[in-house]
Amino acid sequence: MPAFIILESVVPVSLLKIRRYADRLLSCEGLSDKDMTVLLTGNGRIMEINKKWFGRPWPTNVISFPMKEHGQLGDVVISLDKAMEEAQAGLTSTDNRVLELLTHGFVHLLGYDHELGSKEEQLMFEKEFDLRKKLFRRRTMADLCINVDHVATIRQARGGVEPDPVVAAGLVELAGADGIVVHLREDRRHIQDRDVRLLREMVQTRLTLEMAATEEMLGIAADIRPDIVTLVPEKRQELTTEGGLDVKGLEKAITDAVKRLHDAGIPVSIFIDPEKEQIEAAKRTGTECIEIHTGRYADAAGEKAREMEFDLIVDMARFATDIGLRVHAGHGLNYQNTGRLAALSEIVEFSIGHSVISRAVFAGIERAVKDMLTLVKG
Ligand code: PXP
Repeated sequence: MPAFIILESVVPVSLLKIRRYADRLLSCEGLSDKDMTVLLTGNGRIMEINKKWFGRPWPTNVISFPMKEHGQLGDVVISLDKAMEEAQAGLTSTDNRVLELLTHGFVHLLGYDHELGSKEEQLMFEKEFDLRKKLFRRRTMADLCINVDHVATIRQARGGVEPDPVVAAGLVELAGADGIVVHLREDRRHIQDRDVRLLREMVQTRLTLEMAATEEMLGIAADIRPDIVTLVPEKRQELTTEGGLDVKGLEKAITDAVKRLHDAGIPVSIFIDPEKEQIEAAKRTGTECIEIHTGRYADAAGEKAREMEFDLIVDMARFATDIGLRVHAGHGLNYQNTGRLAALSEIVEFSIGHSVISRAVFAGIERAVKDMLTLVKG
């Protein structure tokens, strides 16, 4: 039996995609002979259902009703209002969020229940993750976001108005990049507050603000509202960001910063070294994403050291993905060392600056971005 989809909401979603996905969930578990009904509704209706059946008078994202009757697996109710909100906060599409919620609801129908205790929670998480891995189409192309800090570095060398990183960002977008990245440093050595304000107005793709987790920067982020913040460590004397953030050592402060950014509606990524303990700590902060510091791989002296660093990035990107984090990568990447990393499907975004701006000096910014796009997108 196919899954039945009932739509009671005006939020635009692809019913065909959801229906196909529901059918695949059933067939994956050998349950194609069972009925499953999926009700796609709004916050009002799901609140009524939540109140009536569970005594909880508030809207939630998904509710499951397992059924014991022969031939019935049960019903899943999803709030498309919630799915849309959560999609925006997590940088995914509403369709994808609905599929994630449907997987969660379906796993409840199978009898898993994360509310019964930590062991049950782990079992349910693993089951859900296993199904999502099987059914979600793997991304084949990562996004390329270009860091334009060094256009500002040249401007600041003379303290004038040119070259303008805001103009560079426009050209980078026209060349096809997926996003613009800037690092607003405490000492304002390159990017200025004015740049970030103007970029917020004109960037059409995605604006990533790299910043330290300081009071001043958290205030600026809440005011400017970039599409995502990447938390980075910052030392005044360093030439560039030298290492990943020590999330393990600063867990409380970083957790607070992540919460404040989330409260302001801003998704967060944390720049960390490819180390398991740091990734686990990052996960505990509530962030949705990490950026793996690729500097040690990029700077490795000799083939053997480079291979070791590459293998470490592969393992850590897989580990982070497996525990539910999105993985970005960046630092020191250039036209020679990016291609290998771009082949890893776990890395969904690259943040690259210095090598692209350097090539732009000789070849023009459009050529420089396009050459890097060819390496990242294959
Ligand atoms: N990602 C982060 C977090 C960074 O701090 C930097 C450097 O500003 C980059 C990526 C880009 O590094 P690069 O300029 O070496 O490409």
